[in-house]
Amino acid sequence: MKVVIVRNKEEMGKRAAAAIAEQMRAKEHFVLGLATGSTPLPLYQELIRLNKARKLDFSTTITFNLDEYVGLPPTHSQSYRRFMNANLFDHININKAATHVPDGMAKDPEAFCEAYECMMDDVGGIDYQVLGIGSNGHIAFNEPGSSLASRTRVVQLTKNTIKDNSRFFKRIQDVPTRAISMGIGTVLDAERIVMLAYGANKADAVAKALEGPITASVPASALQLHDKVTWIIVKDAATKLQLEWGR
Ligand code: F6R
Repeated sequence: MKVVIVRNKEEMGKRAAAAIAEQMRAKEHFVLGLATGSTPLPLYQELIRLNKARKLDFSTTITFNLDEYVGLPPTHSQSYRRFMNANLFDHININKAATHVPDGMAKDPEAFCEAYECMMDDVGGIDYQVLGIGSNGHIAFNEPGSSLASRTRVVQLTKNTIKDNSRFFKRIQDVPTRAISMGIGTVLDAERIVMLAYGANKADAVAKALEGPITASVPASALQLHDKVTWIIVKDAATKLQLEWGR
């Protein structure tokens, strides 16, 4: 694993964008795995800037998002489809038909999950997956205890995640309790992974994931099993690391 510790989230976004852009330029029909939440926003701003400056072309890019709340239509202000449109897709030259976010309104969510895995397989798998980490160590909506071999499925959110995400909803009762999420095994199938983190509230999870044992109790620790992972961590989220990690 490569670990880069940076001064601020702008630098985090620029570093991640540069790493992704390098791979994107080398392959047509590049398949990008995307995350929502506050962490990837500086990255998305930089990708938009590169696209507007004609330095990065998305016209043949295919995307798959990690997750979506069950029960939220794409038009809901907190749906991940809406988030992706507002924070990335509406501002770049991507073909929206090539952007995939799990369907939170699927009539048969289990069948949808299987189909989502097939869609990723059909395009040859994910070339570069963007991840954020939850304060409890989750990746996507794979909460502590999720199997390290898990695939895309319907998951129950923990109280911790519902509380973390309630900042985006009027009331905590409005936060959905279930989601469709790629599994840890699905994430590990990506050719390359970039994990981003900033904020003191992530410091514990970052240290456990990078320096602790590989365990289902810390889903992000599974990234230790992947040989092409880059962690880009802002220093406020790196305070609990014991090893030098290139500092
Ligand atoms: C979102 C996702 C989540 C977030 C994590 C961190 O698609 O998969 O695992 O990456 O909850 O969220 P933020 O970035 O809001 O701190």
